[in-house]
Amino acid sequence: MEYQFHPGMDYAKELDKQDPLREIRHRFYVKENEIYMDGNSLGLCSKDAEKAVLKALDVWKEHGIGIWNVEDSKYFLYPSYIGKRMASLIHAEPDEVTITNSVTINIHQGISTFYKPTKDRYKILVDNLNFPTDRYAVDSQVRLHGYEPADAVKVVESQDGRMLSEDAIIDAMTKDVALIVLPSLLYRSAQLLDMERITAEAHKRDIIIGWDLCHSIGAVYHDFQKIDPDFAVWCNYKYISGGPGTTAGLYINKKHFDKNPGLAGWHGNVKATQFQLKHQYEHSNDADGWLTGTPPILSMAAIDGVLDIYEEVGMDKIREKSLKLTAYLMYLIDERLVKLGYRIGNPREDMKRGGHVSLEHDEAYRICQALKKHGVIPDFREPNVVRLAPVALYVSYEDIHRFADILEELTINKEYEQFSNTRSLVV
Ligand SMILES: Cc1ncc(COP(=O)(O)O)c(C=O)c1O
Repeated sequence: MEYQFHPGMDYAKELDKQDPLREIRHRFYVKENEIYMDGNSLGLCSKDAEKAVLKALDVWKEHGIGIWNVEDSKYFLYPSYIGKRMASLIHAEPDEVTITNSVTINIHQGISTFYKPTKDRYKILVDNLNFPTDRYAVDSQVRLHGYEPADAVKVVESQDGRMLSEDAIIDAMTKDVALIVLPSLLYRSAQLLDMERITAEAHKRDIIIGWDLCHSIGAVYHDFQKIDPDFAVWCNYKYISGGPGTTAGLYINKKHFDKNPGLAGWHGNVKATQFQLKHQYEHSNDADGWLTGTPPILSMAAIDGVLDIYEEVGMDKIREKSLKLTAYLMYLIDERLVKLGYRIGNPREDMKRGGHVSLEHDEAYRICQALKKHGVIPDFREPNVVRLAPVALYVSYEDIHRFADILEELTINKEYEQFSNTRSLVV
């Protein structure tokens, strides 16, 4: 889409006035003097999430072990209860989504379920820009099958260190590839891959494909009825704002419901017979069949709570505002910051970018430290990226304008030179 923006704070305030989501911000704990641009690392706490967590605590206080039976066993069924609510964010069938484990474990679950190597077809196709945990999981899975990653893991290399070529991914789908694991959206450059095209090409070649949606879920609407992937995983602590380290999402395409999970556990058993505690596993014919152990209720309650906001607003409005916020941010960068040594490292087209702006600068690390001193919360990604994720639900156009003012000033003053380049434990 073509956006027509204008300079000046008055204009930013006018955009806020016209913003249909402007009141939603008050449902989140947004600090008065802070500009929070880190929603793609850890989304802010909402009052809705807080209320749901406090309610779960009350139920525990009141009922003890009875928590599993109250409200029609809602908490016992929490993985599918929340899964059904989340399914609408990706247009999946309600029983194709469950909430369980961490993303990393869900990647292991997907691979260990679907990776059936043979003599001629034993490779897993990945890219070299995905988040490292995906790669660690893939490497360890091929080792479990007796292969060496150098042979069994096929890597599509980015040509510029920022973007992946979809054609190169498709060209790499050779006859020896059994499975593909890719990110929907690159964590550094915000490139959004054409999941529908890549999945269709994989399926033409009988290759199973799993997607990591960590950087798109809650910012980009995915239509899984059209994309039709085999499995997908995501975290709920970034855009979803489900709380630090909260339980992850897992999608299993219904055409695979009859398969046995690679990693089985008693919560994957049919619910009606789970407490008969038999040693013969009776697989639940839905995404819950991929559950393992007891769900962490207190952590999951925050996801349950915040989904009230997602359901109320809807992904269409979230994506529309997210694109407009990041377009406005890029406009201000182009107007005021490019001449100060900044480069935009993410794709410009709406169809090809996610919810964050990847701002490159040779002094990115020290600039992030200086921004924090001024109440701006960005995050830094090696080697030179100031990552800026203005979450549509709680960031305003005024925030974006104030951010540009602060960044321009601290760059002109070279204020960042007062900071050390030594990386802290969590950057
Ligand atoms: C693409 C991607 N996958 C996985 C993870 C982390 O997974 P986990 O929840 O297992 O720590 C991240 C974390 O930022 C990520 O960006």
